[in-house]
Amino acid sequence: MTYPEPPELFEANRAWAAKMVEDDPDFFARLSEQQTPSYLWIGCADSRVPANQIVGLPPGEVFVHRNIANLVVPSDLNCLSVLQYAIDVLEVKHVVVTGHYGCGGVKAALLDQRVGLVDNWLRHLQAAKRDHAAELESLDVEDAHDRFCEINVRCQVLNVARTTVVQDAWARGQQVQVHGWIYGLRDGLLQDLKVDVSSLDDLETLTKTYGP
Ligand code: CO
Repeated sequence: MTYPEPPELFEANRAWAAKMVEDDPDFFARLSEQQTPSYLWIGCADSRVPANQIVGLPPGEVFVHRNIANLVVPSDLNCLSVLQYAIDVLEVKHVVVTGHYGCGGVKAALLDQRVGLVDNWLRHLQAAKRDHAAELESLDVEDAHDRFCEINVRCQVLNVARTTVVQDAWARGQQVQVHGWIYGLRDGLLQDLKVDVSSLDDLETLTKTYGP
């Protein structure tokens, strides 16, 4: 495997920009004026899960926040700021938490692997692991890993829906739908985990179904 050197990236960038302008001469001029994305994507930092490419959306269509294991931690000012800006200012209609099978962060949390500083970040997964211990322990490691990736997405959907940002948006009648999707590294396909939340009632139902 050969790795591209920085000059090659600049070359590729010039070719890409030229192609975009060839297809749509006003593309950059229009985008530079304003962004009006209708999606906020909260995904894993994993290089194999690039938000726009997976769903075939061009620049300007997806506001993105990524971190290791796509966690939404209520005290994470970075994530909360992205969420608040996306909902209050950009008025996105959909917040999508997208996990992925084969997530190394989720695996490290599942198996208590020591990785380094990131272990502290991944501690946020321990509550979910405890809550679903019976189910996870009944599976072999590979299936437990897959299942924990799904469980994590559901937990993060609940975490998004419980933020003051989303709660306030609903209270003032703004429509915001929170979704939980999962991406397969092996086949490149997205699956809907069907945990959509767009109201306090939905949140209550989902909490009853999936626990705390
Ligand atoms: Co990951």
